[in-house]
Amino acid sequence: IQKFMQINCNSLSLQPIIVKSMKVFTTNQSLQFCLASLKTPASCLGFVPTMGALHQGHLSLIKRAIKENEIVVVSIFVNPTQFNSAGDLKTYPRNLKQDLKKIESMESLGEIIVYVPSEAAVYGNSVAKEAFDFGGLELQMEGKFRPGHFQGVGTVVQKLLDIVGPTHAYFGEKDFQQLQIIKKLVKMTKANVKIIACSIEREPSGLAMSSRNIRLTTGERSHASKIYEALKMTKDKFSDTPLDEITQWVADQFEKDAIINLEYFEISEQLTLQSANKIEPQKKYRAFISAYIRNIRLIDNIALN
Ligand code: PAF
Repeated sequence: IQKFMQINCNSLSLQPIIVKSMKVFTTNQSLQFCLASLKTPASCLGFVPTMGALHQGHLSLIKRAIKENEIVVVSIFVNPTQFNSAGDLKTYPRNLKQDLKKIESMESLGEIIVYVPSEAAVYGNSVAKEAFDFGGLELQMEGKFRPGHFQGVGTVVQKLLDIVGPTHAYFGEKDFQQLQIIKKLVKMTKANVKIIACSIEREPSGLAMSSRNIRLTTGERSHASKIYEALKMTKDKFSDTPLDEITQWVADQFEKDAIINLEYFEISEQLTLQSANKIEPQKKYRAFISAYIRNIRLIDNIALN
């Protein structure tokens, strides 16, 4: 494997040779054995944790990791401790075969390593979440509506970072609150990894890419695009409209549509994620939406300034 990497890394400076190559591991030992044989003290190891059902959003994270690292690990693991309803966990889309096909067909200079662990490989014999204090980040928005969710995310991300040992880990901004919480987790645990935030990938309608989108019918998709429309209008109105007026305007837009139900709309300060009452010019703000179509929960957000 080392020889393989050397050949390809050396050829990088002459003429890149695109090889398509993928290795799949299901145990920690086999993954770690392979990584130990590939890694040098100078190598960058990029990690893209996922729960599978890969879409363009995930693939853009993997592409970026490929560009920025010699070794890339993608994990596919539907983490039970971050679901707060058994129904949601049960209906969460799973399609390992297609996921592997998508990864295999990506262009890469080296190998892409896919880690598909069992629950026991990640959790041992106790599938439980830890109680983290993320300084209040976990209590806002998603935290209010999905109690315990971020404890589950924190638990699994910490375990995966320990198992994989990356230098860089890639997370999408669609789950912006998750991203801020993971940055906080890394700070709190002094983990030696750089968290890279990647911008949201959207379908042509503006709907943020999500594994849950495949559960939407064609008709429902057109209603789902209301989320991004409302966010874009919020951005347009942000500089000259009082926040409560914007909030009422968004609620009215969703009220008019019987198919999509607004769960929350918030304009929050980007670092603390606290709901904004007034705007301070030196701070950054984002608008966040969560909405349901049937039992399908969709979230999205936008930078406002
Ligand atoms: O964003 C996700 O898909 C998950 O929350 C993550 C980070 C893979 C942890 O299970």
